Amino acid sequence: GAPVKADIGKLEPGQMVIVEWRGKPVYVVHRTPAQLETLPGLDGKLKDPKSEISLQPTYITGEDRSLRPEILVLEGVCTHLGCAPAYRPELGAEANVGDDSWVGGFFCPCHGSRFDMAGRVYSGVPAPTNLVVPPYSFEGDNILVVG
Ligand code: FES
Repeated sequence: GAPVKADIGKLEPGQMVIVEWRGKPVYVVHRTPAQLETLPGLDGKLKDPKSEISLQPTYITGEDRSLRPEILVLEGVCTHLGCAPAYRPELGAEANVGDDSWVGGFFCPCHGSRFDMAGRVYSGVPAPTNLVVPPYSFEGDNILVVG
């Protein structure tokens, strides 16, 4: 399939948009500084904190799993059985994801898998690996190219 372009210039901090690529939803989140700050402290709670067994392009490195830290790009397909995880930026019990220490991320409604703000999967849930980062690049400041 052809690459897909999306103008993310108006995506506000904390907001997510969904872009369709190869028949799959691709989640694009403008992460806030507070959301990025949650990532370093979570390693001990995650199955694959360094994404060693998870799929992402070779140019994606680090715990933020991104080219630009503020922009997160993930396939919105749970690595368990393929449901669409929900974006749950709320904190604590308010998010209602079965973890009152919740610091925001993605929650799969099918069997309760939880992922952090980089799509990294928590321990103790059915999903085996992190959400997939698709190939992507930027054209200028505002155009995201997926594929
Ligand atoms: Fe997401 Fe099963 S499909 S937890």
